[in-house]
Amino acid sequence: MKARIAVLPGDGIGPEVAAEAVKVLTKIAHVYGHEFTFEEALIGGAAIDACGNPLPDETLQLCRESDAILLAAVGDPKYDDPRAAVRPEQGLLALRKGLGVFANLRPVKLYKQLLHASTIKPEVIEDVDLLVVRELTGGLYFGERGRMTVDGVEAAYDTMFYTVPEIERIVRVAFELARKRRKKVTSVDKANVLESSRLWRETATRVAEEYPDVEFESMYVDIAAMRLVRYPSVFDVIVTNNMFGDILTDEASMIAGSMGMLPSGAIGAHKPGLFEPIHGSAPKYTGQNVVNPIATILSAAMLLRYSLELEEEAQAVEDAVQAVLEEGYRTRDIREEGTTLVGTQEMGNLIVDRIANSE
Ligand code: IPM
Ligand code: MG
Repeated sequence: MKARIAVLPGDGIGPEVAAEAVKVLTKIAHVYGHEFTFEEALIGGAAIDACGNPLPDETLQLCRESDAILLAAVGDPKYDDPRAAVRPEQGLLALRKGLGVFANLRPVKLYKQLLHASTIKPEVIEDVDLLVVRELTGGLYFGERGRMTVDGVEAAYDTMFYTVPEIERIVRVAFELARKRRKKVTSVDKANVLESSRLWRETATRVAEEYPDVEFESMYVDIAAMRLVRYPSVFDVIVTNNMFGDILTDEASMIAGSMGMLPSGAIGAHKPGLFEPIHGSAPKYTGQNVVNPIATILSAAMLLRYSLELEEEAQAVEDAVQAVLEEGYRTRDIREEGTTLVGTQEMGNLIVDRIANSE
């Protein structure tokens, strides 16, 4: 297969982890006889530095023409000033919106070898295998916002806005995926307080009737946050809005031991999909060869699976990650006694090597 893959390394540790994922994809192409071309473009703080725009037109154009996009991370403390006019994160949001990738799949899988790297008790998390389907192009992230003066004091507002079709399509994605898994969907909202959540619950409940073979429940987000660390194995597919999905997936990453382990893939009605680790740009670790590239490598596996429909190749990457963990190699974030500490590049190389060995 020939595929054009856009690579957006972004900021901080982004370029380091992106490089490891590209190595892995290059190896897959070699072993399975595909022709992948990689084209890099700027996004986030790196793009602001270069041209003042966190999502330059060339970047969006390249992404649209590609078969899939691999993005590492955006965010730079230099632009953290709340008064900054342009911010790196705007580039990421504009890209998600521009590509129409409304469904963000964030699988949370616990590798047995990392059972003790998690801060949560092993007996609580040993059977966890869940998938968060996060709505990605609407809600609080994209609603109207602004600043104003009310009675002489400064004020600000954001709006959580959803239409019925937006809710229907994301809930359907969750049900379709649940059918291929353990057939259970939990829709997470805050319907006891928010009007947009009442519409969400009403709509999700109606869509659920189309899937009588899938078990369905609605849950408030505060309860879901509690259950995620108390009874996480009861979840199969969780579907929720943009904001709640952002928060719940960082929480859920602690089950897997580290943010450095969690991949994600965003898909829409059309190609291409956007694949990125859930973690950020970790500026304080930049250039030190210490961060975990596995989340980005597993995002590349999702890219193979969901955008290129190369299931066997995706599985080969996941198996290679598993093999390296089994052999006891760990980056700093998942280190334990009795394991071998490796850097970002070494971890990437080890995974690349295991792909050869599985042939
Ligand atoms: C994520 C990140 C982003 C988000 C940030 C970087 C804008 O936290 O992908 O979870 O909030 O969506
Ligand atoms: Mg997040």
